[in-house]
Amino acid sequence: MIMQKIKPGYILDNKYEIKKTVAKGAMGAVFKAEAIDTKEMVALKVPLPGFDQGLSSLQRFQQAEKIQFFLNHPNIVKAYKPNYEKGFPYVIMEYVDGPSLEYLINQNRRLTIEDATNYTIQMCNALDYLRQKNVIHHDIKPSNIVINMQKQLKLTDFGISFCQGMEAEIWASLVSIGGTLAYMAPEKIRDHALNDYRSDIYSLGVLMYHMFTGKMPFNGTTEEVIGAQITQNFISPSVLNPSITPAIERVILKAMSPTPNERYQDVSMIKNDLEKAVAMSSRKAKSIKMTLLPEIGIPIWILYVILGIIILSAVIMIVYVNLHQ
Ligand SMILES: Nc1ncnc2c1ncn2[C@@H]1O[C@H](COP(=O)(O)OP(=O)(O)O)[C@@H](O)[C@H]1O
Ligand SMILES: [Mg+2]
Repeated sequence: MIMQKIKPGYILDNKYEIKKTVAKGAMGAVFKAEAIDTKEMVALKVPLPGFDQGLSSLQRFQQAEKIQFFLNHPNIVKAYKPNYEKGFPYVIMEYVDGPSLEYLINQNRRLTIEDATNYTIQMCNALDYLRQKNVIHHDIKPSNIVINMQKQLKLTDFGISFCQGMEAEIWASLVSIGGTLAYMAPEKIRDHALNDYRSDIYSLGVLMYHMFTGKMPFNGTTEEVIGAQITQNFISPSVLNPSITPAIERVILKAMSPTPNERYQDVSMIKNDLEKAVAMSSRKAKSIKMTLLPEIGIPIWILYVILGIIILSAVIMIVYVNLHQ
């Protein structure tokens, strides 16, 4: 079986030399490989053993590569032409030299406000593009996002994505095993086959919560998670991270609204509101630094003027006293 042979040193199809194992996920394994003719580094994804036997898993793998192949966006991992070695499918993608967002969050406890904002905005750009292409990702979570050395975000793993033109029934049978409860919108938990782009917006809300606080809003059984989602029973982001201002918190909570109609309807609004909220908080931080008594708002330059007047008066007094002695 080819899958067992794929390890560092193995040459696939006379075209790619496997360099290292990057990750073994739920559905497939990802390797770093070198294209022998161009010397370019690529990522190679293959289905896990067992996954390439069941027809629906194979179809799922092939659907995913078809979708990713026609997408072209700086915040989406580029997939190249689908490949087969003796009927064995594998995907060649651009290699992202950097960790998954999951690794980054776990490594750093939580991200800085600046990084969390930057990644949210790049996710908004990716989702905005997917909307234009009528693609719903359906599995937004940190392990499906990779970040390169320039802090550029790349969304990947279109394993359970839906695009217009797919037969909804086939898609529904392919996704029955997919998705991650902790990031899934409540309407999707109730109906796995639901295709509404706003479910991706909900997952983005949970992702923001996770990036800004370092914690997940929900955990537990399906019933417990869905109950907590509906009643919005989770710790407020600003309690977990005091640097989150009320305006930033409002953006996270609106994206995580349990009712799709009350949620952000458009990722460009998330981007807008978050940029404004962050600009406001950094202006405030600056003015606090410039202010001697923030609560009554005396600017620091007034202190310097008063000090100047005192020193000048003292000098004048000394000169005056000396002259009249
Ligand atoms: N193009 C890539 N470049 C670098 N690393 C990648 C790339 N694609 C995936 N990875 C890494 O492999 C992991 C699993 O990839 P993913 O496509 O999500 O597989 P699975 O279907 O098994 O979940 C990711 O979390 C990421 O760390
Ligand atoms: Mg994945």
